[in-house]
Amino acid sequence: MKLALPFALALALAAGAALAAQPEPGPGKPPSQPLRVQEAVTIYEPMSWPYIEKGLPGLSAKELKAHYGLYEGYVKKINEIQEKLKDADRSGANYSYNYYSELKRRQAVPLMGTYLHEAYFENLSPQPLEEGSALAQAMKRDFGSLDAWWEDARAVCLSAGVGWCVTAYNTREGHLHNYLITEHHIGYPAHVRPIVVIDSWEHAFCIDYGTDRGKYLEAVRKLINWKVAQGRYDKAAKE
Ligand SMILES: [Fe+2]
Repeated sequence: MKLALPFALALALAAGAALAAQPEPGPGKPPSQPLRVQEAVTIYEPMSWPYIEKGLPGLSAKELKAHYGLYEGYVKKINEIQEKLKDADRSGANYSYNYYSELKRRQAVPLMGTYLHEAYFENLSPQPLEEGSALAQAMKRDFGSLDAWWEDARAVCLSAGVGWCVTAYNTREGHLHNYLITEHHIGYPAHVRPIVVIDSWEHAFCIDYGTDRGKYLEAVRKLINWKVAQGRYDKAAKE
């Protein structure tokens, strides 16, 4: 006599039988199904600064708004790449060309484009360096003087075809250095924390200064918010 099983129980038994039929992954054996990667993803929102709309001494609102628009583009792109990476097939990854590989190779561009622009905009709007601050002492210790720091930072900016000067605290060495970051994602060392970030790409100044990077740099030097820089240094020096 055939006994009728309740539908849910029959379904559970069938599922159990199917699982039992699959080979068990073991040492040296790949799992039967590709693993689903579940990487934590941060959704970025553009930050805002009041002086973008108003302009700053030596940097017009037109220049700053155009530059801010480029920053918004990087924020949009990092979110887009992260979203696409979620379900991208990892199985064909390789050096020459592959959809996942290209996404991964370009991920650092909008990510660093976002981070560096935020650090730059945040440290624009003039605030003086306090003489007794830990940063003022560190600048003197590692560059000799504020003028000597600037001479080197300016030279770094002028050395960039495209790029940035990042005055950073190297947590491994315990010193400040001026680093040249070329494209947003190229040249940023490990173990460093940004203290003063200067955008030296032409898009940062071409509306106001054409190709005269030197004049832009004169303006930027007067715009540095040393209060922001001091806060960054105080935090980094504790690491
Ligand atoms: Fe920029």
